[in-house]
Amino acid sequence: MCSSVTHHHRIVQCSIVSGGEINYPAKLQPSSFSTVKFRSDHASSEELRKVLSKRKAAGVLRLVFHDAGTFEIDDNTGGMNGSIVYELDRPENAGLEKSVKVLQKAKTQIDAIRPVSWADLISVAGAEAVELCEGPPIQVLLGRQDSLGPDPEGRLPLETLDASGLKRNFQKKGFSTQELVALSGAHTLGSKGFGSPTTFDNSYYKVLLEEPRTPSGGMSTMVGLPSDHALVEDDECLRWIKQYADNESMFFEDFKKAYVKLVNSGVRWNSL
Ligand code: HEM
Repeated sequence: MCSSVTHHHRIVQCSIVSGGEINYPAKLQPSSFSTVKFRSDHASSEELRKVLSKRKAAGVLRLVFHDAGTFEIDDNTGGMNGSIVYELDRPENAGLEKSVKVLQKAKTQIDAIRPVSWADLISVAGAEAVELCEGPPIQVLLGRQDSLGPDPEGRLPLETLDASGLKRNFQKKGFSTQELVALSGAHTLGSKGFGSPTTFDNSYYKVLLEEPRTPSGGMSTMVGLPSDHALVEDDECLRWIKQYADNESMFFEDFKKAYVKLVNSGVRWNSL
């Protein structure tokens, strides 16, 4: 029976026959099982709240993107797998060691009760960071496996990319233009000049639409990154920027969905 199908299929079919267990190819693994928990059930949230503060929130949210943002659909490598802990010496990750150290404290406490993967911890921590800064509550599934080494290099977008470069970069990770614009709203946190550095709101979009784009008198204090301004130059992005500037709850809804997609990127799920 097995010999009549391709090698790939033979493995799947034979294992059904022999053990009653299906060995899914990584890409087809079901993403939820009865053992999957929501973050509100887990001790993680409580321990994370002890180590997080509004001031630390931006770094922690950035950590999520730099771990998960290595994912590419084409070869199904990278993604939210905790590999950031092996990648801290990369130039694009400068400054993120601080955020990993903050989370390490919570991880030690949680591991003593029930081990948690870096991938789960970082995913939940980003959601906690958003909520701590008055952004929307986000439910994150748990059960991610950690990788045992670093992900491929050169996959995070450079701040010098123009809009089409940013779109292409996000497309390779499976994200639409709308999701690119929604996720970029994370830059409302931090010190790039979009409203309060510790309040998660839609001021990123409002400030991007303001003219002139540089505060009077200061070239060096330009608000935002070149990549933030590149989005405004693109008609498709501009439409979303306007919508999110006008409608904060729409931004929150779309950010939530895109965040969940980000933290599920390339994940190998535990399948207990
Ligand atoms: C669209 C492409 C993106 C580019 C080119 C980009 C690049 C950057 C750069 C260069 C910084 C400044 C780092 C520094 O101050 O040293 C930054 C900060 C930040 N990024 Fe992004 N980023 C992008 C998308 C994202 C996404 C999708 C998220 C999360 C969902 C994110 C979260 C953050 C946060 C929260 C900060 C502030 C960190 C802090 O102040 O500590 N970024 N980003």
